[in-house]
Amino acid sequence: DVIISVAAVSENMDYCYRNGTVDEVLYIQSGEGKFISNFGNLHVKSGDYIVIPRGVIWQINPTDTVRMLVIESAGPVETPNRYRNRFGQLLEHSPFCERDIQLPELQNPITNKNECLVKVKTQKGIQEYTYSHHPCDVIGWDGYYFPWSISIHDFEPIVGSIHQPPPVHQTFQANGFVICSFVPRLFDFHPGAIPAPYPHSNIDSDEIIYYSKGEFMSRQGIQEESITLHPMGLPHGPQPGKYQSSIGKKHTDELAVMIDTFKPLHVTEAALGIDEANYPLSWMD
Ligand SMILES: [Fe+2]
Repeated sequence: DVIISVAAVSENMDYCYRNGTVDEVLYIQSGEGKFISNFGNLHVKSGDYIVIPRGVIWQINPTDTVRMLVIESAGPVETPNRYRNRFGQLLEHSPFCERDIQLPELQNPITNKNECLVKVKTQKGIQEYTYSHHPCDVIGWDGYYFPWSISIHDFEPIVGSIHQPPPVHQTFQANGFVICSFVPRLFDFHPGAIPAPYPHSNIDSDEIIYYSKGEFMSRQGIQEESITLHPMGLPHGPQPGKYQSSIGKKHTDELAVMIDTFKPLHVTEAALGIDEANYPLSWMD
């Protein structure tokens, strides 16, 4: 259903790229640049989710190293069903709305006759095509299929007097997983509320959290760009001291992206190579 990775793009791509089999979401952690595609360009900045349907030809040219979380989805990436009406419009209780969506801006066609390399990702690897012209030689397009972006900073948090369950953070749905945004927000405001989340066993999903910014309320020893994986079935909760220290806190400035997958994830060898072996011990006093 999903492949999750990270990337740091420090140089202009001297080729174009096209994912032929899956949709992609790029969460921009830091840096700035331009996303160029055959449907037009998007400005790339920290906090953006760039949603790229399969088949779009694109490249990223950074002005400042772009660090990102990359989510590849076998199914289409959509806004959650429960926030949409039967026409597909976002409803009033949705934490974001259509005006938060950035559309690609079509630029003048690139008409030079230089050859252009397009790397196409297939099920089996990368296939290289050499175009005799630039694929962005487009003067217009029509339809509902295009790359778009939305900023995590435009996600309006849903808060309550007692702890709100994870679905309030949901931003996208896809086949087999969801993407959620934890954003700066007021904590639970009942006088007896304990803002830290309750212990749970997440028997329905593997939980990946990518820590983007700020101090996370339930975890210690976490830095920006840390990634945690809590496999399904394992009971877990806030670390020792986090319950007590959360009492009386009024707000959080945390920023994180969570991916809950409905089937177990496989950990790659590359990921094992950067594993923090002591993480499971962080629940001990
Ligand atoms: Fe959890």
